[in-house]
Amino acid sequence: MRLVLMIVAAGAALASGAFAEDEDPFADTVEIRHGLMLQMASELGKVGAMAKEEAPYDAAVAGKAAANIVAIASVLSMDQFPAGSEYQKATDSFALPAIWEKQDDFLTKIADLNTAAAAFQTAASTDLASLKTGMEGIGGACAACHKAYRQPEE
Ligand code: HEC
Repeated sequence: MRLVLMIVAAGAALASGAFAEDEDPFADTVEIRHGLMLQMASELGKVGAMAKEEAPYDAAVAGKAAANIVAIASVLSMDQFPAGSEYQKATDSFALPAIWEKQDDFLTKIADLNTAAAAFQTAASTDLASLKTGMEGIGGACAACHKAYRQPEE
């Protein structure tokens, strides 16, 4: 009886493990890329508030926010976008299949973000006028990729 119970328990554990993986092998990856994106949005929000003059301009705070975007942008790669982790295939994914169909261009968009972020770091820590001008470049790099590769949420 005990042996039977153990076998049943082991079988159930195995089944649930296999099940979770079958259901969504990309759960962690999608969560990671959402976290990276959300952190960039949070940093951009800080400098955005300064650009809109809703928060006082602070060169150190702005420079740090931009430096954080530089750091996060440098992490982005195909590692966070494994083939198959796309919209309507992986839970919570809004990543469009075009990412894998036009991978070279997607990688260019990542490179563009890195370039824009580096330029923005200088601008953000210079003065408010430079920060305001620089917002276009960094915001444009986010938007260019989203337009091509992110399914808009309803
Ligand atoms: C190289 C392409 C690319 C660039 C550049 C990019 N993103 Fe994204 N972003 C994506 C994709 C693709 C998704 C959808 C990912 C998913 O749902 O799995 C996304 C999703 C997001 C999300 C939604 C996250 C969530 O929890 O659903 C936010 C917020 C975001 N990006 C902010 C930014 C900001 C801010 C920038 C610029 C500083 C930026 N992104 C630059 C490709 C990009």
